[in-house]
Amino acid sequence: MVNYIVKKGNKYWPSKEMKRIAWVTDSKIYKKAEKNPVKFWEELAKEGIDWRKAWSKTYEEKLPYFKWFKGGKLNFCLNVLDRHIGNGHKTALIWVPEATDERTIKLSYKELFDKVNQFANALKKLGVKKHDTVAIYLPLVPELVISMLACARIGAAHTVVFSAFAPDALQARIIDGESKILITADGYFRRGKKIDMLSNANKAIKGTKVNKIIIVKRLNKKMNYRKPYYSFDKEIEKYPHYCMPETMNSEDILFVLYTSGTTGKPKGIVHDTGGYAVQSYYTAKWNFNLNPDDVMWCTADIGWITGHTYAVYGPLLNGATTLLYEGTPDFPNFDRWFKIIEENNVSIFYTAPTALRMLKKYADGFTDKRKFSKLRILGTVGEPIDEETWNWYFKKIGKSRCPIIDTWWQTETGGTLINALPGIGPFVPTISGRSFPGTRHEIVDDNGKKAKKGNLVQLPPFAPGMLHGVLNNHKKYVETYWKRFKKKYDTSDGAIMINNLFRITGRTDDVMKVAGHRIATAEIENAIDKHKQIIESAVVPVPDEVRGEVPVAFVVLKSDKPSEKLEAEIKKHVDNTVGPIARPSKVYFVQDLPKTRSGKIMRRILKNILKHERPEGLMTLINPDCVEEIKMVVG
Ligand code: WTA
Repeated sequence: MVNYIVKKGNKYWPSKEMKRIAWVTDSKIYKKAEKNPVKFWEELAKEGIDWRKAWSKTYEEKLPYFKWFKGGKLNFCLNVLDRHIGNGHKTALIWVPEATDERTIKLSYKELFDKVNQFANALKKLGVKKHDTVAIYLPLVPELVISMLACARIGAAHTVVFSAFAPDALQARIIDGESKILITADGYFRRGKKIDMLSNANKAIKGTKVNKIIIVKRLNKKMNYRKPYYSFDKEIEKYPHYCMPETMNSEDILFVLYTSGTTGKPKGIVHDTGGYAVQSYYTAKWNFNLNPDDVMWCTADIGWITGHTYAVYGPLLNGATTLLYEGTPDFPNFDRWFKIIEENNVSIFYTAPTALRMLKKYADGFTDKRKFSKLRILGTVGEPIDEETWNWYFKKIGKSRCPIIDTWWQTETGGTLINALPGIGPFVPTISGRSFPGTRHEIVDDNGKKAKKGNLVQLPPFAPGMLHGVLNNHKKYVETYWKRFKKKYDTSDGAIMINNLFRITGRTDDVMKVAGHRIATAEIENAIDKHKQIIESAVVPVPDEVRGEVPVAFVVLKSDKPSEKLEAEIKKHVDNTVGPIARPSKVYFVQDLPKTRSGKIMRRILKNILKHERPEGLMTLINPDCVEEIKMVVG
């Protein structure tokens, strides 16, 4: 079996075999790109993407905004589908349903092309125009990919909402995006059970501008399609296999994806067409040494940025095969993912540390029976990976012969930004690596001075895939990313520099990573505060062996007495307003929450109490007495 790495000293490096096949092998590329990053990206953009019209200005910076490939024109969907149609029999997408007795679906580039074109025609007929926003609330089914690409074809922006979000969360996103059309499903399967989705969608559209709902049949429910409901299958059937792709400006919106910030209101992160195309194409190609004959499995749900860029756009722009799996890793047992990897010849496997910690705990026994002979590259994303989990991944799945690419990035950055490249290395546990060629990051202290440990910032010229603002909220955009360090993009992540490589330590704001999902403490607090018995609440993360972090809530009640019933009710209430991923693992009932004179809740003190540490900053509290009471409650 081919070995793609060698050990030198205490680090892993690419082997000769990897050097032979990798797209990028010479570390001089970093210096070359740094000399003139704009020219560097310009050359890549010309080579990697089909443009309908060349740009007049490669990069224009008027902070806090910046534009790439100004004046350039292209169609994203054409880059994904039309240019691979010469090799149209090739598999574009493998879809593995959760039920083991249901058939895997494979769509070739030609089949995907046909369906996307048909659906693009259907959307047009249903009134979707260039620059409209289309909301998509679908489980992991091929129709999700078809919908996204159809939007891109006709120049409509898509906004995909994670399928496990509750009606309130979906509604807020539909309203902010001003979508008039919603694509959803009759439901989906989870561990063999049927999960209803349509009733969530129906609740969510109340009070929005949505006047058409297209339904994908996954549970085969009997439906009467009367206005405003349309059947996805029936609509598709009506139309021809070709729809002229719209010519879009490089800076036109490709999609909006909502993510959590420090307030309760999610931010609509805006991504453009040209810059995002270039970054998603090259990061997928170089980080994962992606070739058309590769099968890439990015396990992230498409409702999150990782799924957008590395389950859909990145692999398809490269003409590779992307694998989507509908279900959970433990169905029918913990061998499921491994079986999928082997049966489908997965060569690139990209997942989150939380999934790896779960597999390490429950699926270890299954790994020895598997060879994973087709695997070449492993990736990780979403949160810091600890050394033990890294080693487990390396040995048990990578069989000590595949590099692990630890990619740091965010919803806002569109594509990966800090990681080792497979042909260059090194691959070191807990270290992400260097800035992607053509991008620059540094670490600064709280005063903005360069430091070895502190806040991670990005320096200009900013990467082509970076966000183009927050939808309908210029103020939020400026405050979140540009206020603290002026002309440097503030990532809100902590980092340490070790031998010129970045180790990312995690969020420095009130954002949690629960099983890899990004959630703001304020979002959960807002949901809890809506409960009629609650005066106020504070949510903080606590470490969790598998999920990384889980939320814990402290609540102050109006008149009711604390009870297990009330705790269960509050948890259910969070399920129904945000979604089960935000459910607090524990609810503590307290008399008062620690506050500063200005009324700010000191969540840090609550974190200290939970970890049995000495609370810091008691001096600044207006109500220090509550600390002893909270300690008693926590026990
Ligand atoms: C965290 C996910 C450590 C980080 C693509 C960031 C990571 C947040 C890594 C963004 C990594 C992502 N190592 N931490 N390799 N990758 N993060 O928007 O805190 O869901 O700010 O995007 O995930 O989460 P988001």
